[in-house]
Amino acid sequence: MRTVYLNGDYLPETEAKVSIFDRGFLMADGVYEVTSVLDGKLIDFDGHAKRLERSLNELEMRSPISMEELLDVHRELVRINEIDEGMIYLQITRGAPGDRDFAYPPEDTEPTIVLFTQNKPGLANSPAAKKGMKVISIADQRWGRRDIKTVQLLYPSMGKMMAKAAGCDDAWMVEDGAVTEGTSNNAYIVKGNTIITRQLSNDILHGITRAAVLRFAKEAQMKVEERPFTIAEAQEADEAFITSASTFVMPVVEIDGTMLGDGTPGPVAARLREIYLDESRKAAV
Ligand code: PDD
Repeated sequence: MRTVYLNGDYLPETEAKVSIFDRGFLMADGVYEVTSVLDGKLIDFDGHAKRLERSLNELEMRSPISMEELLDVHRELVRINEIDEGMIYLQITRGAPGDRDFAYPPEDTEPTIVLFTQNKPGLANSPAAKKGMKVISIADQRWGRRDIKTVQLLYPSMGKMMAKAAGCDDAWMVEDGAVTEGTSNNAYIVKGNTIITRQLSNDILHGITRAAVLRFAKEAQMKVEERPFTIAEAQEADEAFITSASTFVMPVVEIDGTMLGDGTPGPVAARLREIYLDESRKAAV
């Protein structure tokens, strides 16, 4: 049985219980991070810890734990649960004030912190990366602060179900005619030697994988354009791909029924995936 972390304790998963008054449960008043594990080590822990601090600050929520302690908890869970490849989910909520109220609870309300591991053998060697994904486009109906990594994931969940119903793997969300991002990943197209992805703003999550991949792309002399693009432009692109902590770089081969190129993953996405995995493994902690 998995060991999980709850408010300072390492517990069997069946014994970790959270109050029905927890604001994460009642109001989706919580933030989260997903960090991947390769070779039993954490990928880009610093990036995830920094974004977590930013999400907490934006919501005036305090952390019940220092970032150094957080690293220890991540490592301890990887060790106890013998994770070689997989991920760690972390969630902090505004705690359980003991009643339901729209106003934030008193400052001294203890936040709730939960971490658990997900074992995913073969994560880096995923067959999906060789085949590529099919996506549909849907309207982006999320709230306006998508740069904060909150646990309000109902619309992204609905988006995944819409994709599934259409026989596809994921959905790209569109607002004012342009793609914002995937339901749980950042979206990119490739035209010649240029990688195009939406610029950072409150409209999208500032992906930790995105930052690393764009850095590696520039180092490999690829051109990067951070700007909005439409579904029509994407359907005309040479390649497309997504990035996230759980998929790394994943090629997209079909958009709204239109095949990109010959319908197989392109060389740019394949190369970026390889560079990302190599460099991230080297820098893992
Ligand atoms: N999702 N955009 C959205 C909406 C996301 O939910 C995510 C991550 C990303 C990519 O961010 P990063 O590269 O830091 O993982 C972009 C995580 C993996 C999830 O919800 O499972």
